[in-house]
Amino acid sequence: MKRTHNCGQLTEKSIGKKVVLQGWVSKRRDHGKLIFIDLRDRYGVTQVVFNPKGSGEAHKEAGKLGKEFVVQLEGKVAKRPRGTENKAIKTGKIEVNATKLEILNTAETPLPIELDEHILAGEDQRLRHRFLDLRRPELQKNLILRHKAVKAFRDFFDKEGFLEIETPFLSKSTPEGARDYLVPSRLHPGKFFALPQSPQLFKQILMVSGFDRYFQIVKCFRDEDLRADRQPEFTQVDVEMSFVETDDVLDVTEKAIAYVFKQVLKANVKVPFPRLSFEEAMNEFGSDKPDTRFAMHLVDVTDEMKGTNFEIFNKVIERGGFIKALRVENGCKALTKKDVDRLTEIAKLYKAKGLMSVWVKGKQIESQIAKFLPEKAVKKLLSKTKAKANDLLLLVADNWLTACDALGYVRLALGEKLNLIDKKKWNFLWVLDFPLLDWSDEEQRWQAMHHPFTSPKDEDLKLLDSTPEKAKAKAYDLVLNGAEIGGGSIRIHKREVQEKMFKALGISKEEAEQKFGFLLNAFKYGAPPHGGIALGLDRIVALMTGAESIREVIAFPKNKAAVSLMDDAPSPVSEKQLKELSLKLDVEKAPQ
Ligand code: AMO
Repeated sequence: MKRTHNCGQLTEKSIGKKVVLQGWVSKRRDHGKLIFIDLRDRYGVTQVVFNPKGSGEAHKEAGKLGKEFVVQLEGKVAKRPRGTENKAIKTGKIEVNATKLEILNTAETPLPIELDEHILAGEDQRLRHRFLDLRRPELQKNLILRHKAVKAFRDFFDKEGFLEIETPFLSKSTPEGARDYLVPSRLHPGKFFALPQSPQLFKQILMVSGFDRYFQIVKCFRDEDLRADRQPEFTQVDVEMSFVETDDVLDVTEKAIAYVFKQVLKANVKVPFPRLSFEEAMNEFGSDKPDTRFAMHLVDVTDEMKGTNFEIFNKVIERGGFIKALRVENGCKALTKKDVDRLTEIAKLYKAKGLMSVWVKGKQIESQIAKFLPEKAVKKLLSKTKAKANDLLLLVADNWLTACDALGYVRLALGEKLNLIDKKKWNFLWVLDFPLLDWSDEEQRWQAMHHPFTSPKDEDLKLLDSTPEKAKAKAYDLVLNGAEIGGGSIRIHKREVQEKMFKALGISKEEAEQKFGFLLNAFKYGAPPHGGIALGLDRIVALMTGAESIREVIAFPKNKAAVSLMDDAPSPVSEKQLKELSLKLDVEKAPQ
């Protein structure tokens, strides 16, 4: 018997037809003498009925069926009795009256995880048994959508004249700033390949080689702390173009996104996307990836809070810091003191020393700082923040970045708590004009905020010799609903600028030669002006599906501890393998 239809195909049009179906038993219900099963495959679910009279031997066989058995059956399509239709599914108006049944395979019981989304196991359990977890329609839907998105990106870039060119996985460390995954070389004892954090240097070399427009849907590897939107291996839609400036890259990216959203979700995405500078984004939203689906802007009240008797504010202002405020409309009613305690914890998590609350009661305020604020200062504060009776003001005083950042996270928590976020919106935006350099607390030195090949703004070139920390970069991030879904830049293509940049970063000639010598060498022989971007495919697909984590849109993800529980990787290797690689372990206890 070969299947005539899949499990999501039959409708009223097929009533009376003899059909053959194959699939998994997702449910079995015994109603007196009738046995019902839901037969499931990738395409859907079909209800099958076994009747002691009509089904003959098949009815007896059906009594043996358990969850997730694989079966093949023959039967006749019939209209479901009135009142038993299921409008939620395409096959909901019909059922198949089985005449033959063959059990192709059994499944052990109990299943290690339930597939019913209402009794979902914990994530680690699900990942350990991913082969079963992936049978869930929810995950199948996610991976089908991912396939469509990948195809749409490929179609778009192909149509626009981009070539997909593969770059090596066994390569040299690339400068994206995370830790590398290393691969020891057997043939060259003591030497290592690094799995690429991105194809950055190779795509730039492809521009030097004249390919003009490159793209690649490519795995990248980064050994960094994991979060809901981070995986050690993830996928980028990587793009590079020659003879372009910022607007050209943004324009093609917007078109790609609009095309993919149209193809996959039938959604009309409005282009061009709004643009904010890094400074505006931080000042207004307290984030370089602002969620603009709700307003609630940060307000600068540094001037208004000058000359009060509150020592903490005075000290911050003296040191050149800022006082930033959020106005929570009707916050006196919507929030309790306990809620504010929770928000204070969030502010502290992001390095603020505290979160001041000012409860606006008519023209009076109730606050731990009320007694330090002269009447005039209160007036100015209420006026600048446009506070009305029953509003709540939340204030952070710190250096500019910490004050914005901490209050930005408080803003996001409030957006969720007060249901201010319209989840149906697709709010894209570009964040531009990033600083070229970024202070690394860990290494106590200036680092490239994007990477060392990002071009400074033309007008800031002169700052490289004197005050490089003030220079802005030709760099851009793409943000969707508060998530960074892409980033890129126009690159430095001139040797003298690159040398200045290395100098500003404290990278010696020898170090530059050792790390990126091959790129610098290529640049000697005619590098065109070029730039590009990389989009985070997993994050885009997660947002498109509404998934909470990118793990829900990756077939075989690592868990939060960077372990693949199903195949148990990473795992120990034999002494022989280590010897071949000239490696000796220096761990307290040999791994099991
Ligand atoms: P960047 O490091 O900004 O740029 O990465 C581009 C995009 O990749 C996604 N991303 C991740 N997704 C899941 N897990 C991770 N661990 C992870 N890290 C990054 C994000 C991010 O915006 N070579 C440059 C691009 C360029 O300059 O052209 C680069 O890799 O969505």
